[in-house]
Amino acid sequence: MHAHDLPTPALLVDADAFAHNMATMSEAWPGPRLRPHVKAFKSTTLARELSAAGHAGFCCATVREMTGMAAAGLGADLLLANEVLDPARLAQLGRLVADGTARVTVAVDSPETVVAAAHAGIHDVLVDVNVGLPRCGCDPVDAPRLADQARAAGLEVRGVMGYEGHLMGVDDRDRRAAGLAVAMEVLAAAHAEVGGAVVSGGGTGTWDLNRSITELQAGSYTLMDTAYDRLGLPFRRALSVLGTVVSVNRAGWAVADVGLKALAMDHGDPSIDGATVWFCSDEHVTWAPTDTPLPRVGDKVRVWPAHVDPTVAKHELLHLIDAGGDVLDVWPVDLRGW
Ligand SMILES: Cc1ncc(COP(=O)(O)O)c(C=O)c1O
Repeated sequence: MHAHDLPTPALLVDADAFAHNMATMSEAWPGPRLRPHVKAFKSTTLARELSAAGHAGFCCATVREMTGMAAAGLGADLLLANEVLDPARLAQLGRLVADGTARVTVAVDSPETVVAAAHAGIHDVLVDVNVGLPRCGCDPVDAPRLADQARAAGLEVRGVMGYEGHLMGVDDRDRRAAGLAVAMEVLAAAHAEVGGAVVSGGGTGTWDLNRSITELQAGSYTLMDTAYDRLGLPFRRALSVLGTVVSVNRAGWAVADVGLKALAMDHGDPSIDGATVWFCSDEHVTWAPTDTPLPRVGDKVRVWPAHVDPTVAKHELLHLIDAGGDVLDVWPVDLRGW
């Protein structure tokens, strides 16, 4: 089948770009040094490609991702790099531990998350340290006390994690590097007091700058988006949303069926090659060609999303295509939900 025969909107993954991204990252962060973040692609089939490339450990953001990975036989070393308190969901992770389906580690950043993990029958934790992003992660001064509490509750403290998400989108590489040095100093100091073998952090935007960690938590590099593409990273845009031109106005604009419900917009408008995107509405993207003629109704158009993770989460299938647009494989987005 050719991509142009797919019902639209449809997620496309350029096979060459994906293979290039995987190889580039695996060369710099081989084997267990890379812990790919499943939240970017939410597909066990894609995760299996990374596992085959030597990366047996994964990061997840939701319990659904953890259980789905375990059910797919990809549970060798799963890190829930996020704080979860729901006892019913955590109990699902406890069951994975009890029946040996997965090695489960969860991030903790408060006495409450320590207690919740211990009650659920989880054995392994990382102390999540705030390194500058105003999100999860304990105050660095609290990290040793939290580690003591976890050990007193019978948990194994494998080390620390700290996600420098406030730096991922900083355009200027020197400023990104300077911010990273500060953030990783905080993480290293916490690690010195907490102990354990693991120092987990980083992401696509700091992939070649962050050298003080034992493992990199990167996900977007696999598929990429226009926001990361702006940073001049060596990864190629692999993910697009294929649309059909549903209306053309001879005053100079065209409309395709790729709107807000098929695209995440939190990082801005999507891009269309050779065109200026005017705006998106629920079911539509409106754009004006800049250096090509107006398309015709029924033509296909590739829309490049600005933020990969939440775009993928809106779809059920990833279509792997070759350079000619033939569909090579269809990968279910089977890790959606919580
Ligand atoms: C905890 C955590 N680690 C790592 C990442 C890095 O992901 P990416 O490579 O997509 O920037 C994220 C992204 O939001 C994250 O939330």
